[in-house]
Amino acid sequence: MSDDHSNLIKSPKQLILVVFGCFFIPLIIIYLLLVYVLNAKPVSEKSADADKSTIALIKPVAQLNFRDASLPREMKSGEEVYKAVCSSCHNSGAAGAPMFNNAAAWAPRISKGYDALYSSVLKGKNAMPARGGASPADVSDFELARSVVYLANASGGKFTEPPVPAAPAQKPAK
Ligand code: HEC
Repeated sequence: MSDDHSNLIKSPKQLILVVFGCFFIPLIIIYLLLVYVLNAKPVSEKSADADKSTIALIKPVAQLNFRDASLPREMKSGEEVYKAVCSSCHNSGAAGAPMFNNAAAWAPRISKGYDALYSSVLKGKNAMPARGGASPADVSDFELARSVVYLANASGGKFTEPPVPAAPAQKPAK
């Protein structure tokens, strides 16, 4: 045993080093831990503010509104669809389109009946593209039908609005 001791510490210099190591290194570690703990506390007190600013910073720039096509959605009125899709031609008479409110131009067409007019719009007719150029994702068949009724009735027709479909997704595609 005494041999072991004499092997480990051979000089006063080594003794000083060992004493220094055993005494001061734990003190330094404790000091560093204290500094760490004392510094950490104010941060947790501020964390409510920090959370808010973090949320503000990582907030998405643009909000994406994904639409589930199978879910019922708010239906556009005939007037809304007309203004968005049809008015570009039917307000001005562009490409020979019968003009909005022009009963004389519409009378022969209205006399063909609603179904004929609707199918002209659905499939397109001469200069008029199918669905008036609207995509089925933007304007459903029902909304398209409403716009036909809106346009025809504004121009002398007396069609009734098609009934609101209970579940648009179940309507068989033609
Ligand atoms: C690009 C121009 C254009 C757009 C957009 C357009 N139409 Fe037309 N539409 C025409 C033209 C041109 C005609 C005349 C077609 C013909 O008889 O030769 C017409 C004819 C019609 C007719 C009469 C069809 C028939 O059988 O006599 C209806 C009803 C009609 N449009 C409704 C609509 C509705 C509803 C929309 C919107 C959803 C629409 N149109 C969008 C150009 C357009």
